[in-house]
Amino acid sequence: MRIKEKIEQLKKEKNAIILAHYYQQPDIQEIADFVGDSLGLSQEAAKTDADIIVFAGVHFMAETAKILNPEKIVVLPDLEAGCSLADSCPAETFEEFVKANPDHTVITYINCSAEVKALTDIVCTSSNALKIVESIPEDKPIIFAPDKNLGKYIMKKTGRNMLLWDGSCVVHEAFSIDKLLELYKKHPDSIIIAHPESEEHILNIATYIGSTSGMINYVKNHPKGKFIVATESGILHKMQQEAPETELIPAPAIEDNTCACSECSFMKVNTLQKLYDCLLNESPQIKISEAIREKALIPIQRMLDLSK
Ligand code: 13P
Ligand code: SF4
Repeated sequence: MRIKEKIEQLKKEKNAIILAHYYQQPDIQEIADFVGDSLGLSQEAAKTDADIIVFAGVHFMAETAKILNPEKIVVLPDLEAGCSLADSCPAETFEEFVKANPDHTVITYINCSAEVKALTDIVCTSSNALKIVESIPEDKPIIFAPDKNLGKYIMKKTGRNMLLWDGSCVVHEAFSIDKLLELYKKHPDSIIIAHPESEEHILNIATYIGSTSGMINYVKNHPKGKFIVATESGILHKMQQEAPETELIPAPAIEDNTCACSECSFMKVNTLQKLYDCLLNESPQIKISEAIREKALIPIQRMLDLSK
């Protein structure tokens, strides 16, 4: 039996669901029950009645699913699937930062650990960051962590000052503005679209800025367009499927002279074989202490309630 069939069979036997992020390899996206952005994946995790959640994404995403589903088994194909942005915000240092600014509302981007979420008032994703920030009374100072690029972008959109944590994503900071402008010169009829984790100089020249699902929807609404896409290149698979007549060009990265794409090495450690193994063995599982889980659930639930 082929591995895809074996996964399908096991999934039925064990009443499991496979949730995958848009940055996963195409063969994983193809076998998933749901493919989405961080918000969509959390919403899906919150409503599933499966007994096992196989999370084809990175650790903080699977951890969020576990926070929402303490009674379910949540497995990640490879525990090494981390996130540079989450790593840029260690909980102990963040706790000191929060304590040093006690009157602030703490908003954290979902790309952070359960321990950091436990220190948070409300979580956000790139889909709803604007709405979440706008939901906080204007006279209330805000700490925004860990992504300084998303934070700066939201500050610009809202005209609101926020205290930013100095974190970033290695993948989105690797885009080269010079190479991007060169590429645009060769394709003057293209539209630049970017994820808000990208640096300000990239966002300044983008026509559309949004989450991965926002970017896919934008492209779908321009079915004959040509796009330069500034986010992780895994998104191109779903984007092309959803808008087959568009021309999609990955934005070029700084160190990258051989390939014009930008890949998240964390997302790409998951493979179909590892996905099968983790479902079969029900391991590696995501484990969180109940004390942290209870605290981390509150800001996630606030986000979900505000995103209905
Ligand atoms: P989205 O929520 O937009 O899918 O972003 C997740 C992510 O990790 C981007 O790098
Ligand atoms: Fe984290 Fe960046 Fe990879 Fe997204 S692309 S999972 S933010 S390292």
